[in-house]
Amino acid sequence: MLLTIDNFDFKGKTVALRVDINSPIDSQNEIILDDARIRACSDTITELSNNGAKVVIMAHQSRPGKKDYTTLKSHAEILSKVLNKEVKYVDDMFGSHAESTIINMEDGDIVLLENVRFYAEEVLKDWKKWKDDTPKKQGKTLMIRKIHHLFDYFINDAFAAAHRAQPSLVGLAYYVPAIAGNVMYNEIKTLSKVLNNPEKPCVFVLGGAKADDSIEVIKNVLSGNIADKILISGIVANIFLLAKGYDIGDNKAVVESMGYLNQIEIAEQLIATYGDKIVFPIDVALNIDGERKEVDLNLNEKIEYPIYDMGSKTIELYNGHIKNAKTVVANGPAGVFENKNFIKGTEGILNSMAETDAFTIIGGGHLSAAAAVVGLDKKMDHISTGGGACIEFLAGKTLPVIKVLENSYNKYRQYGRNI
Ligand code: 3PG
Ligand code: MG
Repeated sequence: MLLTIDNFDFKGKTVALRVDINSPIDSQNEIILDDARIRACSDTITELSNNGAKVVIMAHQSRPGKKDYTTLKSHAEILSKVLNKEVKYVDDMFGSHAESTIINMEDGDIVLLENVRFYAEEVLKDWKKWKDDTPKKQGKTLMIRKIHHLFDYFINDAFAAAHRAQPSLVGLAYYVPAIAGNVMYNEIKTLSKVLNNPEKPCVFVLGGAKADDSIEVIKNVLSGNIADKILISGIVANIFLLAKGYDIGDNKAVVESMGYLNQIEIAEQLIATYGDKIVFPIDVALNIDGERKEVDLNLNEKIEYPIYDMGSKTIELYNGHIKNAKTVVANGPAGVFENKNFIKGTEGILNSMAETDAFTIIGGGHLSAAAAVVGLDKKMDHISTGGGACIEFLAGKTLPVIKVLENSYNKYRQYGRNI
C-alpha cells in the first residue's frame, strides 16, 4: 500500500516533487525531441498546485558524460506550456539561490530545480550496496541535509527511475512522509494487476536489445503462471534460436558482442521447462545491402546475413496469438524499426495490439517511440513511462523507490490528513 496525494491537505505546504522528465534531446540545439514524460507528470503538478501546495520539482536529465546531459531549462519551458502556468527554473539545487527561491514561494507556485545529476552525491553508485537502508544513507548526503528542512512532504512521481535509489529519489523520505504521485500510483496499479491477476489468456511480446532483462521477465511470468504465451523477437529471439540449435551465422557474434552468450543456456532451460509457451519466429527478414529479404527458418540452413526483423509468416503467427489474448504486454521493438525497410514486424505487433479488445500495455522507450511513429500510441490502454523500471517491475524485482514508499505508508498511515 502507498500514501497517495488524496490522503493529504497541501494548502500552504511546501512539497518536494521528484519526477522523471529525462527526455531524448537533440544535442546540437538542445531541443527536446519527445515530451511524453513531461506531459505525464503534469497531472500530479496541477493537482498539487491547485490544492495550494508550493511545488518544488526535482528531476534528472541523462548522465554525466553523455551528449544529452544538460540543464533543465528547456524542460521548464515545455512544462510551463503544458501546464499553462509559470514554472520558474532555478539553476541551483541546494545552494542559497535555491533556498531563497523556495522560502519566497507563494501557495500554488511551481519551481523546477537544476538537474540533480549535476551534483556528485547523486551519481555515486553506493546505493546499490545498501538495500533497505537507502533513505537514511541518502538522507545524510549533503544535498539532502541542506534542503530537507524546507519541505513538509516528499512526493515521488518518478516511476521511470524507481529502480534507482539515489539521494533525490529516496533521501527526503528519511525526514518527511513519502507519497506516491499520480504517475507512480497508476503505473504500479496497472502493472501490478498484470502480475497479480491478468485477464487470461495473457500474452507477453518481448523484443529489443536488452535480452538479459527480457529473459528475467520470461522466467518470472512463466514460473508465476502469469503469461500463457511469450512471443519473442529481436536479440532475445536470436538467443532462443541459438538455444534450439539454429545456425544464425554472424548474428551469433552480435549476441556475443553484447555479452549474452551465457543467456543461451538459460534459454535452453526455459525451453525445456516451458516448451511451447515460448513462441519463436518461423521466418526472418535479412538485411542484404540495405534491402529486406525474408527467409524461412530451417534447422539445416545457415543464416548468411544480419537478421533485422521478423518475417511476414511470424507476424501472422504472432497476430493470431495477440487476437486470442485478453491481456497483451509488449516491451522492446521486434526489429530495427528506425530503418523503414525493417519496421514491418514492430508495426505488425502494434497493429494487432491496436485492433484487439484485450487490455494492452507497452513498456520501454523504444517501443513507445515506435508506437508514436506509426500513430498507434493512443490506441493502447497503458504506455508505461518506464524503460528499465518497467521491465524490472515485470521481472518481479523489488524496486527501491517503491519499497521506500511502502515503508512510508506503514510508518505514517495512521495519521492520514493530520500529519
Ligand atoms: C531512464 O530513462 O531509464 C530513467 O530516466 C532513469 O535513468 P537512468 O537509466 O540514467 O538511471
Ligand atoms: Mg535507463
